Amino acid sequence: MNPNLNSLLLPEEEQRPEHCQIMITGRTLPPLLFLQESVAMLSDVHSGIRLMPKGCADPLFGLDRLPDLLLLYLEEEALSVLQSIALRPECLRPDIIAVLPEPCPELLAEAAQLSLQRILIEPVSRTELIHEVSLTLDRVRQRAGRESALMTAFINARGGAGASMISAGIARALAAEHQRQTILMDMDLQSGSLSHYTGVKVRYGLRQALESVEQLDRQTLRDFMPQIDENLRLISARGPELLLCDEVTSERMQQLLTLLLHSSEHLVIDLPRHIDLLTSVVLERANRIVVVLEQTPEHLTEGVHLIRMLQDELDIAESRIMLVVNRCQHGGGFLLHEIEQTLPHLTICQIPNDYQAARDALACSQRRAEQREHSDMTRALYLLAQSIAAGRHLN
Ligand SMILES: Nc1ncnc2c1ncn2[C@@H]1O[C@H](COP(=O)(O)OP(=O)(O)O)[C@@H](O)[C@H]1O
Ligand SMILES: [Mg+2]
Repeated sequence: MNPNLNSLLLPEEEQRPEHCQIMITGRTLPPLLFLQESVAMLSDVHSGIRLMPKGCADPLFGLDRLPDLLLLYLEEEALSVLQSIALRPECLRPDIIAVLPEPCPELLAEAAQLSLQRILIEPVSRTELIHEVSLTLDRVRQRAGRESALMTAFINARGGAGASMISAGIARALAAEHQRQTILMDMDLQSGSLSHYTGVKVRYGLRQALESVEQLDRQTLRDFMPQIDENLRLISARGPELLLCDEVTSERMQQLLTLLLHSSEHLVIDLPRHIDLLTSVVLERANRIVVVLEQTPEHLTEGVHLIRMLQDELDIAESRIMLVVNRCQHGGGFLLHEIEQTLPHLTICQIPNDYQAARDALACSQRRAEQREHSDMTRALYLLAQSIAAGRHLN
Protein backbone atom coordinates (compact mmCIF):
# COMPACT_ATOMS: atom_id res chain seq x y z
CA MET A 1 0.00 0.00 0.00
CA ASN A 2 1.12 3.54 -0.69
CA PRO A 3 3.35 4.42 2.29
CA ASN A 4 2.47 8.08 1.98
CA LEU A 5 -1.22 7.67 2.53
CA ASN A 6 -2.10 10.94 4.13
CA SER A 7 -0.21 13.05 1.64
CA LEU A 8 -3.14 12.38 -0.71
CA LEU A 9 -5.18 14.81 1.30
CA LEU A 10 -4.30 18.45 1.70
CA PRO A 11 -2.86 19.23 5.13
CA GLU A 12 -5.47 20.91 7.31
CA GLU A 13 -3.62 24.26 7.36
CA GLU A 14 -3.74 24.44 3.54
CA GLN A 15 -7.46 23.75 3.29
CA ARG A 16 -9.90 26.53 2.60
CA PRO A 17 -13.24 26.08 4.35
CA GLU A 18 -15.06 25.36 1.08
CA HIS A 19 -12.44 22.85 -0.10
CA CYS A 20 -13.60 19.28 -0.53
CA GLN A 21 -11.20 16.35 -0.56
CA ILE A 22 -11.87 13.49 -2.92
CA MET A 23 -10.00 10.21 -2.75
CA ILE A 24 -10.06 8.20 -5.97
CA THR A 25 -9.35 4.53 -5.46
CA GLY A 26 -9.19 1.34 -7.52
CA ARG A 27 -6.95 -1.43 -8.80
CA THR A 28 -5.67 0.00 -12.09
CA LEU A 29 -4.55 3.49 -12.99
CA PRO A 30 -6.24 4.40 -16.34
CA PRO A 31 -9.87 4.58 -15.08
CA LEU A 32 -8.72 6.45 -11.99
CA LEU A 33 -6.95 9.06 -14.13
CA PHE A 34 -10.16 9.58 -16.09
CA LEU A 35 -12.04 10.14 -12.83
CA GLN A 36 -9.39 12.55 -11.58
CA GLU A 37 -9.33 14.58 -14.81
CA SER A 38 -13.11 14.84 -14.61
CA VAL A 39 -13.32 16.07 -11.02
CA ALA A 40 -10.47 18.51 -11.71
CA MET A 41 -13.06 20.53 -13.64
CA LEU A 42 -14.79 21.39 -10.37
CA SER A 43 -13.59 24.34 -8.35
CA ASP A 44 -12.58 24.06 -4.69
CA VAL A 45 -11.92 20.36 -4.96
CA HIS A 46 -8.67 18.60 -4.17
CA SER A 47 -8.29 15.00 -5.31
CA GLY A 48 -5.74 12.27 -4.84
CA ILE A 49 -5.38 8.79 -6.36
CA ARG A 50 -4.76 5.76 -4.21
CA LEU A 51 -3.99 2.50 -5.98
CA MET A 52 -5.04 -0.59 -4.04
CA PRO A 53 -2.73 -3.59 -4.50
CA LYS A 54 -4.16 -7.10 -4.83
CA GLY A 55 -5.07 -8.60 -1.49
CA CYS A 56 -5.87 -5.28 0.09
CA ALA A 57 -9.62 -4.89 0.49
CA ASP A 58 -10.10 -1.73 2.57
CA PRO A 59 -9.62 1.42 0.49
CA LEU A 60 -9.60 3.54 3.66
CA PHE A 61 -7.00 1.46 5.49
CA GLY A 62 -4.43 3.49 7.45
CA LEU A 63 -5.90 6.94 6.85
CA ASP A 64 -5.95 9.17 9.88
CA ARG A 65 -8.34 11.59 8.20
CA LEU A 66 -11.26 10.61 5.99
CA PRO A 67 -11.80 12.27 2.61
CA ASP A 68 -15.14 14.06 2.02
CA LEU A 69 -15.87 11.76 -0.87
CA LEU A 70 -14.52 8.36 -1.86
CA LEU A 71 -14.71 7.73 -5.58
CA LEU A 72 -14.38 4.00 -5.89
CA TYR A 73 -13.65 2.18 -9.14
CA LEU A 74 -14.69 -1.40 -8.47
CA GLU A 75 -12.77 -3.98 -10.54
CA GLU A 76 -11.20 -7.16 -9.19
CA GLU A 77 -12.17 -8.38 -5.73
CA ALA A 78 -14.90 -5.78 -5.76
CA LEU A 79 -17.15 -7.73 -3.43
CA SER A 80 -14.52 -7.97 -0.71
CA VAL A 81 -13.84 -4.23 -1.05
CA LEU A 82 -17.51 -3.46 -0.41
CA GLN A 83 -17.65 -5.97 2.43
CA SER A 84 -14.63 -4.42 4.12
CA ILE A 85 -16.22 -0.95 3.88
CA ALA A 86 -19.40 -2.42 5.39
CA LEU A 87 -17.37 -3.57 8.41
CA ARG A 88 -16.55 0.03 9.27
CA PRO A 89 -18.92 1.87 11.58
CA GLU A 90 -21.02 4.35 9.63
CA CYS A 91 -19.33 7.36 11.23
CA LEU A 92 -16.00 6.15 9.82
CA ARG A 93 -17.25 6.03 6.24
CA PRO A 94 -17.13 9.05 3.94
CA ASP A 95 -19.72 9.65 1.22
CA ILE A 96 -19.03 7.12 -1.53
CA ILE A 97 -19.70 7.05 -5.25
CA ALA A 98 -18.86 3.70 -6.87
CA VAL A 99 -18.24 3.06 -10.54
CA LEU A 100 -18.73 -0.47 -11.88
CA PRO A 101 -17.17 -1.58 -15.19
CA GLU A 102 -20.32 -3.63 -15.88
CA PRO A 103 -23.62 -4.40 -14.15
CA CYS A 104 -23.27 -7.13 -11.52
CA PRO A 105 -26.35 -8.01 -9.42
CA GLU A 106 -24.29 -9.37 -6.52
CA LEU A 107 -22.27 -6.15 -6.24
CA LEU A 108 -25.32 -3.97 -6.66
CA ALA A 109 -27.05 -5.82 -3.82
CA GLU A 110 -24.04 -5.37 -1.51
CA ALA A 111 -23.70 -1.70 -2.50
CA ALA A 112 -27.41 -1.11 -1.82
CA GLN A 113 -26.93 -2.39 1.73
CA LEU A 114 -24.16 0.11 2.23
CA SER A 115 -26.44 2.89 0.96
CA LEU A 116 -23.72 4.40 -1.20
CA GLN A 117 -24.48 7.87 -2.52
CA ARG A 118 -24.50 6.64 -6.10
CA ILE A 119 -23.52 3.63 -8.20
CA LEU A 120 -22.59 4.40 -11.78
CA ILE A 121 -22.17 1.72 -14.41
CA GLU A 122 -19.78 2.08 -17.34
CA PRO A 123 -19.84 3.72 -19.79
CA VAL A 124 -19.87 6.76 -17.52
CA SER A 125 -19.61 10.10 -19.26
CA ARG A 126 -17.66 13.01 -17.82
CA THR A 127 -20.88 15.03 -17.64
CA GLU A 128 -22.67 12.36 -15.63
CA LEU A 129 -19.76 11.97 -13.26
CA ILE A 130 -19.36 15.70 -12.63
CA HIS A 131 -23.06 15.96 -12.03
CA GLU A 132 -23.10 13.20 -9.42
CA VAL A 133 -19.96 14.46 -7.69
CA SER A 134 -21.33 18.03 -7.57
CA LEU A 135 -24.60 16.85 -6.02
CA THR A 136 -22.81 14.80 -3.39
CA LEU A 137 -20.37 17.59 -2.53
CA ASP A 138 -23.26 20.07 -2.21
CA ARG A 139 -24.68 17.79 0.49
CA VAL A 140 -21.30 17.30 2.16
CA ARG A 141 -20.80 21.06 2.33
CA GLN A 142 -24.30 21.69 3.60
CA ARG A 143 -23.92 19.08 6.30
CA ALA A 144 -20.65 20.59 7.40
CA GLY A 145 -22.14 24.09 7.22
CA ARG A 146 -19.22 24.90 4.90
CA GLU A 147 -20.67 26.21 1.73
CA SER A 148 -23.41 26.74 1.15
CA ALA A 149 -26.06 28.52 -0.67
CA LEU A 150 -29.48 27.04 -0.98
CA MET A 151 -30.53 26.94 -4.59
CA THR A 152 -34.16 27.75 -5.36
CA ALA A 153 -35.40 27.62 -8.95
CA PHE A 154 -38.62 29.28 -10.13
CA ILE A 155 -40.38 28.08 -13.27
CA ASN A 156 -43.82 28.96 -14.62
CA ALA A 157 -46.49 26.55 -15.82
CA ARG A 158 -47.44 29.04 -18.55
CA GLY A 159 -45.82 32.27 -19.75
CA GLY A 160 -46.82 35.32 -17.71
CA ALA A 161 -47.76 33.31 -14.59
CA GLY A 162 -45.36 35.40 -12.51
CA ALA A 163 -42.16 33.32 -12.08
CA SER A 164 -39.87 36.31 -12.72
CA MET A 165 -41.83 38.60 -10.42
CA ILE A 166 -41.84 36.03 -7.60
CA SER A 167 -38.16 35.07 -7.95
CA ALA A 168 -37.18 38.76 -7.85
CA GLY A 169 -39.46 39.40 -4.85
CA ILE A 170 -38.06 36.40 -2.98
CA ALA A 171 -34.45 37.35 -3.73
CA ARG A 172 -35.10 40.85 -2.42
CA ALA A 173 -36.77 39.52 0.75
CA LEU A 174 -33.92 37.09 1.44
CA ALA A 175 -31.34 39.86 1.02
CA ALA A 176 -33.19 42.62 2.90
CA GLU A 177 -35.39 40.91 5.49
CA HIS A 178 -33.21 37.91 6.21
CA GLN A 179 -29.90 39.69 5.58
CA ARG A 180 -28.61 36.79 3.51
CA GLN A 181 -26.04 37.17 0.76
CA THR A 182 -28.22 36.47 -2.26
CA ILE A 183 -27.58 36.05 -5.96
CA LEU A 184 -30.47 36.34 -8.39
CA MET A 185 -29.78 34.57 -11.67
CA ASP A 186 -31.84 35.27 -14.76
CA MET A 187 -31.60 32.12 -16.89
CA ASP A 188 -33.94 33.28 -19.62
CA LEU A 189 -31.22 33.50 -22.24
CA GLN A 190 -33.28 35.28 -24.84
CA SER A 191 -35.95 37.33 -23.18
CA GLY A 192 -34.73 37.62 -19.60
CA SER A 193 -35.90 40.96 -18.33
CA LEU A 194 -34.70 41.19 -14.73
CA SER A 195 -31.81 43.49 -15.63
CA HIS A 196 -34.33 45.79 -17.30
CA TYR A 197 -36.76 45.76 -14.36
CA THR A 198 -34.06 46.18 -11.74
CA GLY A 199 -32.39 48.90 -13.76
CA VAL A 200 -28.88 47.44 -13.41
CA LYS A 201 -26.50 47.59 -16.34
CA VAL A 202 -25.16 44.21 -17.42
CA ARG A 203 -21.83 44.74 -19.11
CA TYR A 204 -20.60 41.23 -18.48
CA GLY A 205 -23.02 38.52 -17.44
CA LEU A 206 -23.79 34.86 -17.72
CA ARG A 207 -22.21 34.47 -21.16
CA GLN A 208 -18.82 35.85 -20.12
CA ALA A 209 -18.91 34.05 -16.76
CA LEU A 210 -19.49 30.73 -18.53
CA GLU A 211 -16.74 31.45 -21.06
CA SER A 212 -14.11 32.12 -18.42
CA VAL A 213 -15.40 29.94 -15.59
CA GLU A 214 -12.10 28.03 -15.19
CA GLN A 215 -10.23 31.23 -14.35
CA LEU A 216 -12.84 32.65 -11.99
CA ASP A 217 -12.82 32.72 -8.24
CA ARG A 218 -15.25 34.26 -5.78
CA GLN A 219 -13.64 37.68 -6.07
CA THR A 220 -13.45 37.89 -9.87
CA LEU A 221 -16.95 36.42 -10.25
CA ARG A 222 -18.30 39.67 -8.80
CA ASP A 223 -17.35 41.49 -12.02
CA PHE A 224 -20.10 39.50 -13.74
CA MET A 225 -22.77 40.23 -11.14
CA PRO A 226 -23.73 43.88 -10.70
CA GLN A 227 -25.03 44.81 -7.28
CA ILE A 228 -28.75 45.56 -7.05
CA ASP A 229 -28.85 46.32 -3.37
CA GLU A 230 -27.00 45.51 -0.19
CA ASN A 231 -26.60 41.69 -0.07
CA LEU A 232 -28.13 41.28 -3.54
CA ARG A 233 -26.44 40.74 -6.90
CA LEU A 234 -27.79 39.86 -10.33
CA ILE A 235 -26.27 37.57 -12.92
CA SER A 236 -28.08 37.74 -16.20
CA ALA A 237 -27.71 36.65 -19.80
CA ARG A 238 -29.05 39.90 -21.13
CA GLY A 239 -26.21 41.73 -22.85
CA PRO A 240 -25.00 42.90 -26.21
CA GLU A 241 -24.74 39.37 -27.64
CA LEU A 242 -27.30 36.59 -27.75
CA LEU A 243 -26.39 33.49 -25.76
CA LEU A 244 -27.67 30.24 -27.21
CA CYS A 245 -28.10 27.19 -25.03
CA ASP A 246 -26.08 24.92 -27.35
CA GLU A 247 -23.03 27.19 -27.08
CA VAL A 248 -22.58 26.15 -23.46
CA THR A 249 -21.60 22.78 -22.06
CA SER A 250 -23.31 21.40 -18.99
CA GLU A 251 -19.86 20.97 -17.34
CA ARG A 252 -19.33 24.72 -17.50
CA MET A 253 -22.76 25.30 -16.10
CA GLN A 254 -22.02 22.90 -13.23
CA GLN A 255 -18.76 24.70 -12.53
CA LEU A 256 -20.44 28.08 -12.52
CA LEU A 257 -23.18 26.83 -10.19
CA THR A 258 -20.57 25.50 -7.77
CA LEU A 259 -18.83 28.87 -7.74
CA LEU A 260 -22.09 30.76 -7.29
CA LEU A 261 -23.02 28.44 -4.42
CA HIS A 262 -19.68 29.20 -2.77
CA SER A 263 -20.22 32.91 -3.20
CA SER A 264 -23.58 33.38 -1.52
CA GLU A 265 -26.08 32.03 0.97
CA HIS A 266 -29.01 31.92 -1.44
CA LEU A 267 -28.98 31.37 -5.15
CA VAL A 268 -32.39 32.26 -6.60
CA ILE A 269 -32.85 31.27 -10.23
CA ASP A 270 -35.50 32.53 -12.61
CA LEU A 271 -35.83 29.77 -15.22
CA PRO A 272 -37.43 29.99 -18.65
CA ARG A 273 -40.41 27.72 -19.34
CA HIS A 274 -38.66 25.14 -21.53
CA ILE A 275 -36.42 22.40 -20.19
CA ASP A 276 -33.11 22.04 -22.02
CA LEU A 277 -29.52 21.08 -21.29
CA LEU A 278 -28.82 24.11 -19.10
CA THR A 279 -32.12 24.34 -17.27
CA SER A 280 -32.06 20.62 -16.49
CA VAL A 281 -28.63 21.06 -14.83
CA VAL A 282 -30.23 23.68 -12.57
CA LEU A 283 -33.41 21.67 -11.94
CA GLU A 284 -31.49 18.55 -10.97
CA ARG A 285 -29.29 20.46 -8.57
CA ALA A 286 -31.79 22.87 -7.01
CA ASN A 287 -32.75 22.25 -3.39
CA ARG A 288 -36.22 23.49 -4.14
CA ILE A 289 -38.18 24.01 -7.34
CA VAL A 290 -41.10 26.41 -7.22
CA VAL A 291 -43.68 25.97 -9.97
CA VAL A 292 -45.74 29.11 -10.51
CA LEU A 293 -49.25 28.94 -11.96
CA GLU A 294 -52.52 30.80 -11.96
CA GLN A 295 -56.04 29.72 -11.03
CA THR A 296 -57.19 28.54 -14.44
CA PRO A 297 -57.81 25.03 -15.84
CA GLU A 298 -55.17 25.66 -18.54
CA HIS A 299 -52.52 26.57 -15.96
CA LEU A 300 -53.42 23.51 -13.91
CA THR A 301 -53.11 21.19 -16.94
CA GLU A 302 -49.73 22.66 -17.87
CA GLY A 303 -48.58 22.66 -14.26
CA VAL A 304 -49.43 18.97 -13.79
CA HIS A 305 -47.63 18.15 -17.04
CA LEU A 306 -44.53 20.06 -15.94
CA ILE A 307 -44.47 18.45 -12.49
CA ARG A 308 -44.81 14.94 -13.98
CA MET A 309 -41.94 15.74 -16.32
CA LEU A 310 -39.76 16.89 -13.43
CA GLN A 311 -40.54 13.72 -11.51
CA ASP A 312 -40.42 11.18 -14.33
CA GLU A 313 -37.72 12.56 -16.63
CA LEU A 314 -35.44 14.29 -14.16
CA ASP A 315 -36.11 12.06 -11.17
CA ILE A 316 -36.90 14.98 -8.88
CA ALA A 317 -38.48 14.04 -5.56
CA GLU A 318 -41.88 15.49 -4.74
CA SER A 319 -40.47 16.92 -1.49
CA ARG A 320 -38.31 19.32 -3.53
CA ILE A 321 -41.23 20.72 -5.53
CA MET A 322 -43.49 23.50 -4.30
CA LEU A 323 -46.44 25.15 -5.95
CA VAL A 324 -47.24 28.86 -5.96
CA VAL A 325 -50.69 29.94 -7.06
CA ASN A 326 -50.22 33.51 -8.23
CA ARG A 327 -52.90 36.20 -8.64
CA CYS A 328 -54.88 34.08 -6.24
CA GLN A 329 -58.46 35.06 -5.52
CA HIS A 330 -60.74 33.31 -3.08
CA GLY A 331 -64.11 32.38 -4.47
CA GLY A 332 -63.35 33.82 -7.88
CA GLY A 333 -62.14 32.03 -10.99
CA PHE A 334 -60.96 28.45 -10.93
CA LEU A 335 -61.24 27.11 -7.41
CA LEU A 336 -58.14 26.64 -5.33
CA HIS A 337 -59.33 23.31 -3.98
CA GLU A 338 -59.34 21.86 -7.54
CA ILE A 339 -55.61 22.52 -7.58
CA GLU A 340 -55.18 21.08 -4.08
CA GLN A 341 -57.12 17.95 -5.02
CA THR A 342 -55.17 17.40 -8.25
CA LEU A 343 -51.78 17.89 -6.58
CA PRO A 344 -52.48 16.77 -3.00
CA HIS A 345 -48.90 16.12 -1.90
CA LEU A 346 -47.37 19.46 -2.81
CA THR A 347 -46.93 22.42 -0.51
CA ILE A 348 -49.03 25.23 -1.96
CA CYS A 349 -48.46 28.92 -1.35
CA GLN A 350 -50.78 31.69 -2.53
CA ILE A 351 -49.86 35.15 -3.81
CA PRO A 352 -52.66 37.69 -4.34
CA ASN A 353 -53.13 40.00 -7.29
CA ASP A 354 -51.58 43.45 -6.85
CA TYR A 355 -50.34 45.31 -9.88
CA GLN A 356 -48.24 47.92 -8.06
CA ALA A 357 -46.67 45.48 -5.61
CA ALA A 358 -45.82 43.16 -8.53
CA ARG A 359 -44.01 45.99 -10.31
CA ASP A 360 -42.09 46.82 -7.14
CA ALA A 361 -41.16 43.18 -6.62
CA LEU A 362 -39.79 42.95 -10.18
CA ALA A 363 -37.71 46.04 -9.57
CA CYS A 364 -36.17 44.35 -6.48
CA SER A 365 -36.30 47.70 -4.73
CA GLN A 366 -36.19 47.49 -0.96
CA ARG A 367 -37.26 51.11 -0.55
CA ARG A 368 -40.39 50.49 -2.61
CA ALA A 369 -41.10 47.26 -0.74
CA GLU A 370 -40.93 49.12 2.57
CA GLN A 371 -43.52 51.57 1.32
CA ARG A 372 -45.83 48.70 0.53
CA GLU A 373 -44.96 46.63 3.57
CA HIS A 374 -48.59 46.24 4.54
CA SER A 375 -49.84 44.98 1.20
CA ASP A 376 -51.08 41.38 1.16
CA MET A 377 -48.77 40.51 -1.70
CA THR A 378 -45.61 41.81 0.01
CA ARG A 379 -46.57 39.84 3.12
CA ALA A 380 -47.20 36.69 1.06
CA LEU A 381 -43.78 37.05 -0.57
CA TYR A 382 -42.15 37.48 2.86
CA LEU A 383 -43.84 34.31 4.10
CA LEU A 384 -42.63 32.35 1.10
CA ALA A 385 -39.11 33.76 1.57
CA GLN A 386 -39.25 32.69 5.21
CA SER A 387 -40.01 29.09 4.31
CA ILE A 388 -37.22 29.13 1.71
CA ALA A 389 -34.76 30.64 4.20
CA ALA A 390 -35.66 27.95 6.72
CA GLY A 391 -35.29 25.04 4.31
CA ARG A 392 -31.63 24.24 4.81
CA HIS A 393 -31.96 20.46 4.96
CA LEU A 394 -34.44 19.78 2.27
CA ASN A 395 -32.81 16.86 0.54
N1 LIG B 1 -49.66 38.76 -8.41
C1 LIG B 1 -49.59 39.65 -9.42
N2 LIG B 1 -50.39 40.75 -9.43
C2 LIG B 1 -50.32 41.63 -10.43
N3 LIG B 1 -49.47 41.56 -11.46
C3 LIG B 1 -48.63 40.50 -11.51
C4 LIG B 1 -48.64 39.50 -10.49
N4 LIG B 1 -47.70 38.58 -10.79
C5 LIG B 1 -47.12 39.00 -11.95
N5 LIG B 1 -47.67 40.14 -12.38
C6 LIG B 1 -47.30 40.88 -13.59
O1 LIG B 1 -47.48 40.02 -14.70
C7 LIG B 1 -46.47 40.20 -15.67
C8 LIG B 1 -45.82 38.87 -16.01
O2 LIG B 1 -45.12 38.42 -14.86
P1 LIG B 1 -43.70 37.66 -14.98
O3 LIG B 1 -43.18 37.52 -13.61
O4 LIG B 1 -42.82 38.33 -15.99
O5 LIG B 1 -44.20 36.25 -15.54
P2 LIG B 1 -43.32 34.98 -16.05
O6 LIG B 1 -41.91 35.21 -15.66
O7 LIG B 1 -43.94 33.79 -15.41
O8 LIG B 1 -43.50 34.96 -17.55
C9 LIG B 1 -45.50 41.24 -15.10
O9 LIG B 1 -45.78 42.47 -15.67
C10 LIG B 1 -45.81 41.24 -13.61
O10 LIG B 1 -45.61 42.54 -13.05
MG1 LIG C 1 -40.13 35.20 -16.74
